Amino acid sequence: GPWTATVLTLFPEMFPGSLGHSLAGKALAAERVRIETIQIREFATDRHASVDDSPFGGGAGLVMRPDVIDSALRSVVTEGSHRPILYLSPRGTPLTQARVIALAEGPGPILLCGRYEGVDQRVLDAWAMEEVSLGDYVLSGGEPAALVLLDACIRLLPGVMGNEDTTAEESFSHGLLEYPHYTRPADWAGREVPPVLLSGNHAEIARWRQAQAEAITRARRPDLMRAFEARSVPARK
Ligand code: ADE
Repeated sequence: GPWTATVLTLFPEMFPGSLGHSLAGKALAAERVRIETIQIREFATDRHASVDDSPFGGGAGLVMRPDVIDSALRSVVTEGSHRPILYLSPRGTPLTQARVIALAEGPGPILLCGRYEGVDQRVLDAWAMEEVSLGDYVLSGGEPAALVLLDACIRLLPGVMGNEDTTAEESFSHGLLEYPHYTRPADWAGREVPPVLLSGNHAEIARWRQAQAEAITRARRPDLMRAFEARSVPARK
């Protein structure tokens, strides 16, 4: 069947959300991809349908109960499943394009969305969940992060992007930020397009774009530039 992601959430109505309008929306409509949601609350067992409780040791906020999340996971994970199970959290490993590519190539992931105060640590440990962060800022829940992760994966699925070269050429495929892009008009509000782009000299254009990508990466992301240089000039022992 199609690449399928399963999202465990207290807010299933947030899916597919904005993905239903973009490129991902066309893939969903064409059934090249599926986003399945599981309402965590359906796995609550008490008469109040509690999914969270106050933290042991005290403090603000609520923590999601391990028993409820475990039951929700058991309902989706079948014997011998190789689907990655990810928990979206600001404590996680930063998401990279390499991880996105691997997720798009493999069986669709199971994404656990929690409230940001968190999920009981024991259920994360028991399932050996991979904890993934979108960056060093705090969202009110994992759902917007799951939507972003899904967008990044879905655009890479075979047949989803119209132009197959676009992905190979863009940012991070070479480990650098992209060179700047220009289109008509050639003179807009007194700002001209770099003349080399109008020269018709494809070798010179390619060299200019590479130099621009390196200059922009050096200025904005010295961390990426160091990684790029370490790969282009392998360190000697
Ligand atoms: N949930 C709350 N904040 C998050 C973040 N920065 N990344 C991923 N999931 C989150």
